[in-house]
Amino acid sequence: MSKLNVVKYGHPVLRTPAKRVLKVSAKIQKLVFDMMETMYANNGCGLAAPQVGESLSIFVLDCSSETKKYPAMVFINPKIVKSKGACKSHEGCLSFPEVFVDVKRHAELTIRYQDLKGRQQEMTVNVKDDPLLCRAIQHEMDHLNGILFIDYVIDYYGTDEILRQKGLPPIEKAKQQDTADLDALLDFATAETIK
Ligand code: NI
Repeated sequence: MSKLNVVKYGHPVLRTPAKRVLKVSAKIQKLVFDMMETMYANNGCGLAAPQVGESLSIFVLDCSSETKKYPAMVFINPKIVKSKGACKSHEGCLSFPEVFVDVKRHAELTIRYQDLKGRQQEMTVNVKDDPLLCRAIQHEMDHLNGILFIDYVIDYYGTDEILRQKGLPPIEKAKQQDTADLDALLDFATAETIK
């Protein structure tokens, strides 16, 4: 295995939709192992192939915490087939060193993907039972579509200031995601909490 270089925000590959993996070949499997090694070496819990300069539909995760252990996971050609609810998520990204901001995410999702042997798999997760896993899947899934976590920020100007302090390019206004559905659900969730 070898550790790969992680590209930083501003690199065009991060804005390029990833290509489908046609065959889970030995070459793809090696890339997956290298991505795992790179993720662990950088103390990350997730890494998508575009982040190592490979515009392919693959991401890896290890969402283990002190309270819950998970195996290392790989998702090839993933697709979110169902999502519902909304939650706030405090996120970082290996392509944005030392940047952590609040973003909006769904609270439950079902994902279909291929595993390292090319077999079709399906998984349903929710933020109550698997908080990190549920949010990380959405974060990494976006990387495969050229979407970044800063495209869902809650505090636009605050985030822009953090990016500036870390020497990264500013938020791209045109890339901000329409989160009207998430906003409505988040307002509802907040109202429920106040009650
Ligand atoms: Ni990321």
